[in-house]
Amino acid sequence: GNFQVIDHPLIQHKLTILRDKNTGTKYFREVVNEIARLLAYEVSREMPLRDIEIETPIVKTVQKQLAGKKVVIVPILRAGLGMVDGMLDLIPAAKVGHVGMYRDHDTMEPVEYFIKMPSDLSERELLVVDPMLATGGSAVAAIDALKKRGATNIKFVCLVAAPEGVKVLQDAHPDVGIYTASLDEKLDEKGYILPGLGDAGDRLFG
Ligand code: PRP
Repeated sequence: GNFQVIDHPLIQHKLTILRDKNTGTKYFREVVNEIARLLAYEVSREMPLRDIEIETPIVKTVQKQLAGKKVVIVPILRAGLGMVDGMLDLIPAAKVGHVGMYRDHDTMEPVEYFIKMPSDLSERELLVVDPMLATGGSAVAAIDALKKRGATNIKFVCLVAAPEGVKVLQDAHPDVGIYTASLDEKLDEKGYILPGLGDAGDRLFG
């Protein structure tokens, strides 16, 4: 599938703030949303348009309006919640679906504990959001669950991705485009992204 690193200078600058261990919860939350907003701008770049006839104060004219599927932002709980408001700033009419996943801290296997989605998933464009793509287990399991419920048009949007996780997600779901603010170096032996930004869920919510 499509894989894109969105390394706009503003995004790189903001990501450095997130990586810094001295950045506290309030500022971390703000900056996660700021980056999510910028990512939403790029991810929406290829949204389809249609012609619409309007009248300006002067003349009739044919112009463009969005014509695509209705968007659903799907945060993977908990950490994905931190990106929702920023995405909604740019796509205010989007619905929000929730998928709860956590990594078992011993096995590192993802466990689904909550799922609540809007209806008619097959007719919607889903933006699955999570700050981190580490082993890829959570993203693959979340997208499995969404496809099982009828979703066909899915993009995955994250802040930091490990090469290992990108490969796992691409192999499992080649149709899913991956958009990340950074492709990091690797995973450590515990499955944490290096250099990464620590545990995004803990830094957002404690
Ligand atoms: C983190 C992160 C991802 C997942 C990534 O969540 O937000 O969901 O780990 O790891 P993976 O690619 O190896 O699956 P975590 O399990 O810490 O839960 P939380 O967001 O509730 O803190």
